[in-house]
Amino acid sequence: MPFPVTRLRRLRQSAALRALVRETELSAHHLVQPLFVREGARVRRPIRSMPGQFQLSVDELLKEAERTAAAGVPAVILFGIPDHKDTKASGAYAVNGIVPKAIRALKQRLPELLVIADVCLCEYMSHGHCGIVRKISKIRGATGGFRVDNDATLKLLAKAALVYADAGADIIAPSDMMDGRVAAIRAALDARGFVQMPIMSYAAKFASAFYGPFREAAESAPQFGDRKTYQMDYANAEEALREVALDIEEGADIVMIKPGLAYLDVIRRVKERFHHPVAVYNVSGEYAMIKAASEQGWLDEKAVVLEMMTAFRRAGADIILTYWARDAARWLRE
Ligand code: PBG
Repeated sequence: MPFPVTRLRRLRQSAALRALVRETELSAHHLVQPLFVREGARVRRPIRSMPGQFQLSVDELLKEAERTAAAGVPAVILFGIPDHKDTKASGAYAVNGIVPKAIRALKQRLPELLVIADVCLCEYMSHGHCGIVRKISKIRGATGGFRVDNDATLKLLAKAALVYADAGADIIAPSDMMDGRVAAIRAALDARGFVQMPIMSYAAKFASAFYGPFREAAESAPQFGDRKTYQMDYANAEEALREVALDIEEGADIVMIKPGLAYLDVIRRVKERFHHPVAVYNVSGEYAMIKAASEQGWLDEKAVVLEMMTAFRRAGADIILTYWARDAARWLRE
């Protein structure tokens, strides 16, 4: 029945009516707070391009995590900034590396808070790439004179995952985009008895300019070349479905799409195709641009953030990793 019998404005007349028919719920249960941890004590170093975010020493991380948990956020994901970087990313799988230290401290102080361990080598590599780098002479079409060695990298990723599992991580989250890493990590975990450890894979991670501020935050910018030979071409959605399918076959329990805002179509297609828990990473560049506009008074930060979070949920995301997790949890209760 067309107008005037049908009038869609009827159900928009009051807040109560609108809430009654609202299709998408946003709650703190779905939020994950990323935190950056570094060596030292009483360190709370602001990240210039991410106002309100800090590199924290473990003691400060505990305070931050306490406030995050108190706001109602169920999970944090950790990124480590080691004191020392080399060409085999030793810091990523050192038993006393910064991330395992932080995990142990968090699980002791806040046993209920879920601790997600991001598994990647870029923060620990002197060159900033996510895997072992080999020099190559001139291969046709190859750029930059180097190659990231996929299969050699898998062993290090599996080693790192085991160290984080041993330290008490609740979820292992590989973000490197090497082929076969979910299978390698699953096998390593199972062989050591961690058969119950969930894997949340960054399944479709695009080579994105929106990661700029994170690379400052994690001090992980590649020193030469770029990540386009391992992260995905942002023009491709069919390929994203293949990435997700492979990760699920290899044993991923949760699949992530990253970045978020410019990739809502991918989230929707993944949700419809796979019926798996889907996570989205609301990345540093998305944070930086809204922060910058809000500081100018050009956008209403809270309104924009809640709208964006709801859009992620509407697109099909179950889990949202966002630098606003703590603030959003608070706003949702107000
Ligand atoms: C590490 C990693 C990155 C992000 C999360 N894990 C950066 C990258 O791939 O360069 C980006 C997060 C963000 O931008 O907020 N591989």
